[in-house]
Amino acid sequence: MSDARDTATVGLSGRRLVLGVAGGIAAYKAAELCRLFVKAGASVRVVMTAAAARFIGPLTLQALSGHPVSQDLFDPGTEAEIGHVRLADEAELIVIAPATADCIARLAAGLADDLLAAVVLAGRGPVLLAPAMNVNMWENPLTQANLARLLGPAGGGRFSTVGPDRGELACGWIGAGRLIEPAEIAAAAARLLAPGDLSGRRVVVSAGPTREPIDDVRFIGNRSSGKMGAALAASAAARGAEVTFLAGPGTPAVAAGPGRVTRVPFETAADLERALADAADGADAVVMAAAVADFRPRARAAGKLSRRAAGAPTLELVEVPDLLAGLGGRRRQSGKPGPFLVGFAAEVAGGSAMDERAGAKLREKGCDAVVANDVGAPGIGFDAADNAVTVLFADGARADIPRASKRAVADRLWDLFAPRLAELARG
Ligand code: PMT
Repeated sequence: MSDARDTATVGLSGRRLVLGVAGGIAAYKAAELCRLFVKAGASVRVVMTAAAARFIGPLTLQALSGHPVSQDLFDPGTEAEIGHVRLADEAELIVIAPATADCIARLAAGLADDLLAAVVLAGRGPVLLAPAMNVNMWENPLTQANLARLLGPAGGGRFSTVGPDRGELACGWIGAGRLIEPAEIAAAAARLLAPGDLSGRRVVVSAGPTREPIDDVRFIGNRSSGKMGAALAASAAARGAEVTFLAGPGTPAVAAGPGRVTRVPFETAADLERALADAADGADAVVMAAAVADFRPRARAAGKLSRRAAGAPTLELVEVPDLLAGLGGRRRQSGKPGPFLVGFAAEVAGGSAMDERAGAKLREKGCDAVVANDVGAPGIGFDAADNAVTVLFADGARADIPRASKRAVADRLWDLFAPRLAELARG
């Protein structure tokens, strides 16, 4: 057990961290996180909010970090040398655990009236948020909007999250909102500081639905929100990849970086096919998270079909070419080993039925891996914040990723794919 954890945090050795602690019941777990950081060889400066100090004594964190704990924006001792700017400048990574709803809201608003918010605002480096709060506060659209603001372009590509976990909460409710285990937070921090394992790789990620026009105002679409693909694109960029992000209608924005993200919008499967033809050439990996139509109306009617003019129309559908299978076929013909091709399989069954159908897609489409998700299960799949997937590889390997946020699932997927991309690049 400890071996795996030590390996996960090995990249923290010698790194300078600020550990921000906001005021929630999970603040006591900051002590264990601080201990893990120090054990991994990181230098840790703890910044606590006034509310956090009501949940855990600063002396505990001072003893564990080996440094005085900073609490006050107006501390005459440290602010004589503009302490908040110094803390921000020196930190290679700011980790906020727990990040409460209030803390997230304050950061999203760009406030700087307490030391922790001021340090974040004054910094330029990455910030890892480990949210923890009551499930209703977590699911409140205001909290989600605040988080989306930080994770989107307004956050400047600096913010990422780890957790929260689901389970029994201190308030007695059961659901999402529990602080993820400190070892997971430490591993995520190490990943963020890792010398991007996708640095120098060109990856293509497709996301979101296609819309196949019936007439000029109506279309056949599907329930894909683009969140899964956006999480994959953001995760790849965070690890240094140059990402071509093929984004269907409604797909969220993805902040760059350190890797670059080029967003190419598409509407129909034909648009996506053209975009793929451009982007896949020379790419190291193509990940098809988009929900692409299998059928489309044979013809697009001009204007708006009118029931008064012609009654209910009969739609004739024709098959849409399988784009992923097309990529697999072209790669086979070219005799080249790349790009590494990843399909998603949206199945309405779990267990062995899902494995079987996803395995058939893996073979038929000629890809290297298929990520199967049970889109019939509640709370995951289409338009959900979370996902749970099984990855089947063409070489017979397999991995189960249990239910987690789509970003956490995306991070795990790249953990699995990155070494295979490196192998492919070595030839
Ligand atoms: O977007 P979200 O709301 O976050 O939801 C995520 C998701 C459920 C859409 C995603 O996780 C997912 O499963 N995406 C694949 C959806 C899908 O089209 O599955 P499929 O089993 O029908 O297709 C298998 C693979 O073939 C997919 O990689 C698909 O992109 C590809 N395909 C399908 C049809 C087609 N004409 N061309 C294709 O390339």
